[in-house]
Amino acid sequence: MRILGIESSCDETAAAVVEDGEIVLSSVVASQMTTHGKYGGVVPELASREHLRAIVPVVREALAQSGSGWNDLAAVAATVGPGLVGSLLVGLTYAKSLCFARGLPLIAVNHIEGHIHAVILEAKRDGTPVEFPALALVVSGGHTHLFEVQEGFRYGLLGKTRDDAAGEAFDKVAKLLGFSYPGGPIIDSLAPYGNPQAVRFTFAKMKGNALDFSFSGLKTAVLRWVEERNMESEIAARRALLRSRPSPSAEDWLAVTPPHTLDLLASFQQAVITELLRRAAASAERMEARSLIVSGGVACNTGLREAARTAGFLCPVHFPSPALSTDNAAMIAAAAFPKLARGEFASLDIAAQANLTLA
Ligand code: KG4
Ligand code: ZN
Repeated sequence: MRILGIESSCDETAAAVVEDGEIVLSSVVASQMTTHGKYGGVVPELASREHLRAIVPVVREALAQSGSGWNDLAAVAATVGPGLVGSLLVGLTYAKSLCFARGLPLIAVNHIEGHIHAVILEAKRDGTPVEFPALALVVSGGHTHLFEVQEGFRYGLLGKTRDDAAGEAFDKVAKLLGFSYPGGPIIDSLAPYGNPQAVRFTFAKMKGNALDFSFSGLKTAVLRWVEERNMESEIAARRALLRSRPSPSAEDWLAVTPPHTLDLLASFQQAVITELLRRAAASAERMEARSLIVSGGVACNTGLREAARTAGFLCPVHFPSPALSTDNAAMIAAAAFPKLARGEFASLDIAAQANLTLA
């Protein structure tokens, strides 16, 4: 049973063909990084326009690479939310037209559920299937959520960010220091050159749900740290680098980043990791999780992967491969497979839902 998945919730146009919910026959991702990089974040209008440009060739390429014709497909799955509404509309509308024209059923997928299925798919393929109940930590540019995942893919929300998402904190801190978007991979590559103990960040105690996160205070603390120092010339040097080269390498950034800023980056990354894993450990204990799933763009973070491995979790910890950590459509097709089995199809008048929740 082959499903064509389509994902366009943010700044990646992606299509993939996945067989039986676990064999990735193709996964094509057109990134818009160079479009948004210089603005320090995703510009929604530009994102919609880029999706419009990319959607047809990306889907065509995914079908070709998988060796599939329309008759080989059992369904088309598309991200219905959450995300930028103009971006979601492109992928969802194209999926609807394909379904209408080819007589295929449409499956609507929640983007966050997709991130969780990226891990379930790979763990199954690698012979170490995720055991339930599982705890899922979804950490990306738009989400920082802890979910309890029960057998049959039923979700319960345990905690979430009250302000910035973890990836958003990486991106905002990078931006105020003059690095480009997305900031997460840049901070990840520079953090090993700094001392993670050099700058002490304090977190206010959470009122209400102790499993909720808050990262906006951390961003403000970094801003204050920057304001207390004379950093204009080094920030200007990084902005100049970005003007001279659209995607600088880690070495390029390193050449314009002095030791005190490397210490700041290492300490910031360490603080985010500590917060994420502290709440994950408390949740895992509370629900007696039999596995921990970490997914979303921030799951690419080398420091987070290393810290999760050595944090002493009693259950196995599963991370997706880097290609399936960030936005892709294989995860959407994989999440659609159980829905196909249950006959859970969407009507062709379903609307994109920018604020869709899971659970
Ligand atoms: O899952 P994703 O591709 O898109 C969303 O659904 O948001 O995640 C993108 C986010 C960005 O905020 C990016 O900075 C962050 O993931 N990210 C990272 C790393 N790679 C991507 N954050 C920290 N370390 C990384 N290596
Ligand atoms: Zn995502």
